[in-house]
Amino acid sequence: METPVQDQRRAKRTSETPEADLSKLGNSLITKFHVLMRISQIYDSKNVALHQFVQESLKGINDLIEREGTLSVKILKDDVVLNDQRLRYSVEGFTSFKYLLTQWKKRLIGEVVFKDLLNETTLKEFIYALMNLEEGKEDNAALLTQQLVDKGIHSIEANSLEIVEGEEEEGLVVSEKEDPHEVAKKVFFETIGTIKEVITHIKGKQYAEVRKLKRLAQKAVHLVMEDESILLGMATIKNYDEYTFNHSVNVCIYSLAMGKRLGFSKRLMTELGITALLHDLGKSKIPKEVLNKPSPFDEGEWGLMKRHPLWGVEILLNLKQLGEINPRMVIGIFEHHLRSDFSGYPKLFRKKEVSLFGQIIQVADSYDAMTTPTNYRKVAFTPEQALAIMLKERNAHYDPLLLKIFISLVGIYPIGSLVLLDTRELGIVYKPNPDPKWMDRPKVLLVSRDETGEGRKELVDLTETDSKGRFKRSIVKTLDPRKYHIDIIKYFFTPK
Ligand SMILES: [Fe+2]
Ligand SMILES: [Fe+2]
Repeated sequence: METPVQDQRRAKRTSETPEADLSKLGNSLITKFHVLMRISQIYDSKNVALHQFVQESLKGINDLIEREGTLSVKILKDDVVLNDQRLRYSVEGFTSFKYLLTQWKKRLIGEVVFKDLLNETTLKEFIYALMNLEEGKEDNAALLTQQLVDKGIHSIEANSLEIVEGEEEEGLVVSEKEDPHEVAKKVFFETIGTIKEVITHIKGKQYAEVRKLKRLAQKAVHLVMEDESILLGMATIKNYDEYTFNHSVNVCIYSLAMGKRLGFSKRLMTELGITALLHDLGKSKIPKEVLNKPSPFDEGEWGLMKRHPLWGVEILLNLKQLGEINPRMVIGIFEHHLRSDFSGYPKLFRKKEVSLFGQIIQVADSYDAMTTPTNYRKVAFTPEQALAIMLKERNAHYDPLLLKIFISLVGIYPIGSLVLLDTRELGIVYKPNPDPKWMDRPKVLLVSRDETGEGRKELVDLTETDSKGRFKRSIVKTLDPRKYHIDIIKYFFTPK
């Protein structure tokens, strides 16, 4: 006979939409684990402050264990698999996701099975035993399970990480079966993670993961060559917490898309990609308090800010792992704030032309900076406003031709803009029309909701006409997505 609890579990399991629910609960579970793993590095297990955190986390974690009965959390390459279902992580959840992957992999833990609901003691013991494991020891999984058994906990079991052959090089080629959006998402987030490691390691003068960055830049080049609009869509992500790293990747995407239009070779594209990724490397020498200041910089702080291109060059020249450091790369970093009329910084004694890399990065950098909210300027410009400002400044600050290329690239309606259509429908610009004649007729994702309030997506082409040859839909104007409470990214990630 079933106990009332089992009864309830069964009822719960059948009444919910399994996939959406698993992803929501799964993301919540990973976030809770992330916070707890981090806290365990700060407090010892007897700390009172910890009690509250553990209590708060229990529900989120137990919700999923309760639903599933037995829950396996498994690492498969760079994915987290919950009871044989790969977890699709949310944008907000990415940092937690990455942290869990890194920490478990370091300790060679590949799977943890929870056979029963957790309570404060079991959860605490598990987290501390896990985090106290010595990195890189092969028998860690057995050790962890045994340590828990010794404490009277029999409901948690750990298994070792399965090393998949050739994992390192995996993903370089986009196979036909793989959804290019998924590949782009992986490359995008992995690059954010790597650039973060490169920058923070340099701070601690540790070994920099520059080789990995080079490989990721090659992957990004490959994706841009195939279909730049996918990565351009990713660049609409403005993750404030990870600003510098997110910004670097966005600048890389915009720069590569421009390089493609300019007919750059693959090799030149890779160089441009790395330069763009590292353009703000020098900011790692500026204190965080200054970078994140919510008010305007004073003179001294501006002085520091203006030194970041030069500092970037210094750091780059010390990065021996980069192989041949190309003068193009060095100059590109040095000049990315110079501006066409040399009114930017650093101040130069002798005037000359700004290099092509410097000019490309300048355009990409300005656009991304303007369209991203910061501590100081909480409301960012819309893509349309940013382009209008850049056009106004074009002769003084940018190369007019490059700016023209950039605008044709992001479209008059840049990817990710929210637009009102003459049918009174709302849409998100998804892909620009490749024919310059139809720049005002991109492909658009219609934004609507079904009866349950869930977002529904339909991709329409604005060049479509009805039987009388009239356009079915046209853009009336762009709108500010914040006013309509629309999370553009949610629409981007799972296109239908
Ligand atoms: Fe910069
Ligand atoms: Fe920048």
